Amino acid sequence: MKSYIYQTSMETARALIEHLLAMMDNEQDKTFYFAFSGGSTPSLMFEIWAHEYKEVTPWERMRIYWVDERCVPAESYESNYGTMCRLLLTKVEMPVEYVYPINGANRPKEEAKRYSSLVCSTVPVEEEFPVFDVVLLGAGSDGHTSSIFPGQEYLLTSFHPYEVSVNPYNKRKRIAMTGCLMFAARKIIFLVIGRDKANVVYDMLHSGDTGPAAYVAHHAECVELFTDEQAYFR
Ligand code: 6PG
Repeated sequence: MKSYIYQTSMETARALIEHLLAMMDNEQDKTFYFAFSGGSTPSLMFEIWAHEYKEVTPWERMRIYWVDERCVPAESYESNYGTMCRLLLTKVEMPVEYVYPINGANRPKEEAKRYSSLVCSTVPVEEEFPVFDVVLLGAGSDGHTSSIFPGQEYLLTSFHPYEVSVNPYNKRKRIAMTGCLMFAARKIIFLVIGRDKANVVYDMLHSGDTGPAAYVAHHAECVELFTDEQAYFR
């Protein structure tokens, strides 16, 4: 896994945005398929993106999907889609027809099937699997990624693109991208920031299959880590 380490969280978020923009600049005729994670870390990136990179981003060449979603309505403060809309998508010229949210208000099992079908029918397929250009992942301090928590490792090898998972801390259901879809992606990029993530970053770098995030970091073919010194140097 290639690591990019920066002094502050803002520098790390800026560097990731510029990394994504450089990818799109290098292939100016290509449409890019992105899957974004939720949680608080990407919020910093979304705010910076909206304020500092709005005019230089080829929004019309982006297709935006989600890695995971909480089973709540889009209006809920917990919604990953709602958060990205509030911080970024409503502030830039992103064509709404190119944004594909998971419907957190739908019945979880139905939504996991619906979204799996949607991704399979709209994301370019190679060798029978949809191939995202970039799957952007976070990591929880407990080692989870996507919404695959420790103890739910079977989701890392599920052949269903999205499955229902449960947050063990509040028992709330989520829709989660599974390992097969992650590993089919051209590139996985982790954005992990802050001292409370130092242990999970250490595991991702050194410990192997100690949890979902470390498993993905060690098994994905093309995976990069954008992190800050607080998380990298423990
Ligand atoms: C979610 C995310 C989740 C996130 C990690 C890190 O829906 O919560 O997709 O997997 O990446 O929990 O979250 P923080 O950035 O809030 O620490």
